[in-house]
Amino acid sequence: MSKYIINGPARLNGIFQPSGAKNAALKMIAASLLTKEKVILENCPDILDVRSLIDLIESLGAKTSFSNNVLEIDPSKVNKFRPDDKIAKKIRASIVLVGPLIARFNKAQIAHPGGCLIGNRPLDAHMEVFKQYGVKVESKKNSYNFSTLKLIGAKTFPCLSVTATENAIMTAVLASGISVVYAAAAEPEIKDLILMLRSMGAKIKGAGTHNVTIEGVKKLSGTRFRIIPDRIEIGTIVCAALATNSEITINDVREKDMGNFIYKLESLGAKFKIENSQLTVLKSKIISGKIDTRTYPGFSTDLQSPTAALLTQAHGKSRKFETLFENRFNFISELNKMGAKIKQINDFVIEISGPTNMTGAKIESSDLRAGAALVIAGLIAKGKTVINNIDIFERGYEKWENKLSNLGVEIIKEE
Ligand code: EPZ
Repeated sequence: MSKYIINGPARLNGIFQPSGAKNAALKMIAASLLTKEKVILENCPDILDVRSLIDLIESLGAKTSFSNNVLEIDPSKVNKFRPDDKIAKKIRASIVLVGPLIARFNKAQIAHPGGCLIGNRPLDAHMEVFKQYGVKVESKKNSYNFSTLKLIGAKTFPCLSVTATENAIMTAVLASGISVVYAAAAEPEIKDLILMLRSMGAKIKGAGTHNVTIEGVKKLSGTRFRIIPDRIEIGTIVCAALATNSEITINDVREKDMGNFIYKLESLGAKFKIENSQLTVLKSKIISGKIDTRTYPGFSTDLQSPTAALLTQAHGKSRKFETLFENRFNFISELNKMGAKIKQINDFVIEISGPTNMTGAKIESSDLRAGAALVIAGLIAKGKTVINNIDIFERGYEKWENKLSNLGVEIIKEE
């Protein structure tokens, strides 16, 4: 397992270049199974979750090559409909392979996904969607099995679940007839997936809205598509800059993709300058406040823990209400070890008193976004912070040891 060693407190300056969006890339890799022609994804982040999805489609027979953030996929030889069990268990996002596999083979099998630290992550919305398409869903001892004689377009209700919405859309693009996805999630990554599918010849209306209409087509062609920047990585580095009273500029920021993140932080005293797609974080005095996480365009749950690390430096008592996941506070004990004063009120609410002095410590990263909170705490803390299991953080953040040292941070990664 590798670790980060950070010497704080850090003062960041310079320009930050975000990578492509993890939560767009994973589904686009799955979408490549919908065609037999070559798919090229540009600006693809080289992160562990992308590597896992690549391994999964290779276990189905796809051929890939990945360098300089360009991923080439040749799906022509895909001839299996059950991705490798061991890898599928490692990554929850493997569920997004099911829609494309049913669309391609009229059947799919997927190992029961492994446990997840941020909550029990049920899959009922996905199963409902497949049943609404008339797919037979069986829960076997080691896998879910899906089968249908003919995929017919239907009305589906993924209840704002992000990946269930993506499964509903990817199942429909080759189904016969019209499908309508009601109460679709509308995250920017879903809109980007729709734009990619359209570039392959899919007929989809309502991109970026909560109602998506798809007219099934006979086949989809290959494509070359550039993935949007990662808004969660951008939000994370914004929290790091504000937490260390730094001034940095971030490239490729699409303001509307940030939902209410920017405005919420401005209401807490953060100062920004936005020019075209460059966002400059200015030195700011952060005050305490209340933040609820919501589905897009509300405050992203994936930015709840990075903002919690920031709020340890805010003047006063802050409250965070995590409304999407029942256990997304796995960073509290580690941050309190460093001097933070975070109290968990119940499964969904924490209270943060600040500002508190933070001192470096040896800490463990547990889940991806909790790891982001620990990295930010390491930037704030005086002295040396060692973050073990940094592989978990690297599931979603590309080469941050390089990106942070380019901003002047004293950080090294040790295998
Ligand atoms: C996606 O997960 C993202 N992952 C998550 O990002 C993100 O936190 C989440 O959306 C919410 O924005 C990917 O895109 C790969 P959901 P997903 O289905 O689709 C409940 C990260 O850190 N639910 O929208 O799994 C669920 O328990 C990851 O990058 C059901 O009840 O999230 C949760 O409470 C973490 N039944 C809520 O809905 C279901 O069948 C939101 O889940 C599915 C979900």
